[in-house]
Amino acid sequence: MTAQLITKSTQVNQAKLPNHVAVIMDGNGRWAKQRGLPRIEGHRRGANALKEILRYCKDLGIKTLTAYAFSTENWGRPTGEVSFLMSLFERLLQKELKEMEAEEVCINFIGDLTPLPPSLQQEMHHSMERTKHNQGVFFNVAINYGSRHEMIHACKAIAQKVQQGELSTDSINDQTISQHLYTSASPDPDLLIRTSGEMRLSNFMLWQLAYTEIYVTETLWPDFDNDQLDRAIVAFQQRDRRFGKVK
Ligand code: IPE
Ligand code: IPE
Ligand code: MG
Repeated sequence: MTAQLITKSTQVNQAKLPNHVAVIMDGNGRWAKQRGLPRIEGHRRGANALKEILRYCKDLGIKTLTAYAFSTENWGRPTGEVSFLMSLFERLLQKELKEMEAEEVCINFIGDLTPLPPSLQQEMHHSMERTKHNQGVFFNVAINYGSRHEMIHACKAIAQKVQQGELSTDSINDQTISQHLYTSASPDPDLLIRTSGEMRLSNFMLWQLAYTEIYVTETLWPDFDNDQLDRAIVAFQQRDRRFGKVK
């Protein structure tokens, strides 16, 4: 009887869910290579995986999901791969907007959107506008995102306010910085997941991840499913978050 009740999902403690989960979705290319497929096929499958994970986050009750989709460094990839990714993002936004609205998803893009193709920028602004009042799950997608660029952008905005007398240098604190980042609307992530076994941040949320629990899995992103997310959450729930203090 009790054995029957112990299912996979009961391992996740609903009372101790991370509020904000961030994911570095890595390994699409290797996933495709292992199957003798072009890299772009890995990106296509990776997008499906993200869609499922977003829905599962919402079902579990995780408030915010942030996904790293394209870094400021990813422009250095072959032109064909970059343009495929740009058109994939655009097609996905067109295709998924209705469902995001129905599922109460509030989508927000973080990163410098200005160098992106104008038609993609238009879809991005349109989807943010259409979903801005939704409260089901907050979904941040990092496109042309780089943490160092984000910090430079924040420094410039703060400096300008000081110059114009809106802010005094002495009053600059943690909150001032957080409020000038692209992620100002979200709390810092509780859990960062990186797939494909790489143990690095690759210029992702350097400020915001100061006290985030990090979970690295060998699983390649297109294979990252609900069961894998359960495992990451269970591992998170076993961590002792001390925040520099002694218990
Ligand atoms: C992550 O997968 C997706 C993006 C960076 C756009 P990769 O494309 O980096 O896959 P690998 O690391 O080459 O396997
Ligand atoms: C990080 O993955 C960026 C995204 C997932 C969008 P990369 O594949 O670009 O990172 P590196 O090159 O392995 O550090
Ligand atoms: Mg990679």
